[in-house]
Amino acid sequence: MIDVQKIREDFPILKRKMQGHDLIYFDNAATTFKPQCVIDAVVRYYTELGANAHRGDYELSFQVDSEYEGCRKAVARFIGADEKEIVFTSGASASLNQIAYGYSRFLKQGDVILSCEAEHASSILPWMRVAEEKGCIIKYIELDEEGRLSIESLKDLLDEKVKVVALAHVTNVLGYEAPMKEICALAHQIGAVVVMDMAQSAPHMKVDVKDIDCDFAAFSAHKMCGPTGLGVMYGKYELLSKMDPYMLGGGSNARFDMCGNLLLKEAPYKYETGTPPIEAVIGFHAALNYLSQIGMDEIQAYEKELHDYAIEKLSKLENILLYNPHADASIITFNVKDVFAQDAATFFNSQGVAVRAGHHCAKLLTKKLETSATLRASCTFYNTKEEVDRFVEVCSQATIENCLGVFF
Ligand code: ALA
Repeated sequence: MIDVQKIREDFPILKRKMQGHDLIYFDNAATTFKPQCVIDAVVRYYTELGANAHRGDYELSFQVDSEYEGCRKAVARFIGADEKEIVFTSGASASLNQIAYGYSRFLKQGDVILSCEAEHASSILPWMRVAEEKGCIIKYIELDEEGRLSIESLKDLLDEKVKVVALAHVTNVLGYEAPMKEICALAHQIGAVVVMDMAQSAPHMKVDVKDIDCDFAAFSAHKMCGPTGLGVMYGKYELLSKMDPYMLGGGSNARFDMCGNLLLKEAPYKYETGTPPIEAVIGFHAALNYLSQIGMDEIQAYEKELHDYAIEKLSKLENILLYNPHADASIITFNVKDVFAQDAATFFNSQGVAVRAGHHCAKLLTKKLETSATLRASCTFYNTKEEVDRFVEVCSQATIENCLGVFF
């Protein structure tokens, strides 16, 4: 059971006021706040450790190495992987770009990459570039009426030309969970690899990449109470070994000479060029411990409860248009009738409520939703039913007059 009041004590930023109101932060799909233990871990690196990772032959550097690799082990445990399959990157976007770049060497003209219209830009744009450079074809798996991935459509598209299936585990606008285990089994039957964008699933549920059997996965620390500037690329070791990094430089090579001979280190190190964000890695370890202590199953159950509670109340409001009332994640995408999303967000802001407005980096989805912009309220385990009540109250006051009144 989540003790939300106790949890809230861990997040100093939740005490802030906004526009004279208690802050209600419902933009957790964009990034989450950090608990004090994560802030302390980051500060501890700067106050007690300070050295680079994998560079020095002195005690301080050994301590940094041990903490850095300790986080790698923790990430591996968190998603059920082996530690040598965990690569630190600058974020999920960097991971997804690296996967596309690295795997593109195995693709040739006419090969097919499967995606869908609900994907985040970082999940699809790297493959669009690969398609252009290699002469591959991107095909889009259909969405059903609600905007969920259609497994029937996926089955129809799967043939021997399909080499990559790149999909979000949970989509960032509609919050639907794709049946990734089934998708991986289907894709593997025809020899395709599956890239799973976990940016919106890893923070909210237990994910076991070995059980799902995806070939690659990507997520960001900052969406799961960790620091910004850090992400994870997971890859099956055999694939990581065969692929090339898109960045070369210090830390990732074993040796090179003036003739241009280059020997890269083994994975995961060959992908980690340059000084990494060491304080973020150490902070992320604290975040993973923090989430694990609460329990990912508990987090998921609590967030579902919050979501269902909010949907029940919001569906009674006539001025609110809900796009995904049956979302699997705690993501509510909506609009205030007759009000442009950004104007409505400004009204919410005037009431101390932070929600995101726009296309949320999923520009292809606007056609399906038949609107150029939506509002998105995304909750996490430190949000409360009282905050939902206040949010629903602000929604009920979001008339065209009130929303436009903010500007005059
Ligand atoms: N990808 C983040 C979001 O969906 C920023 O909001």
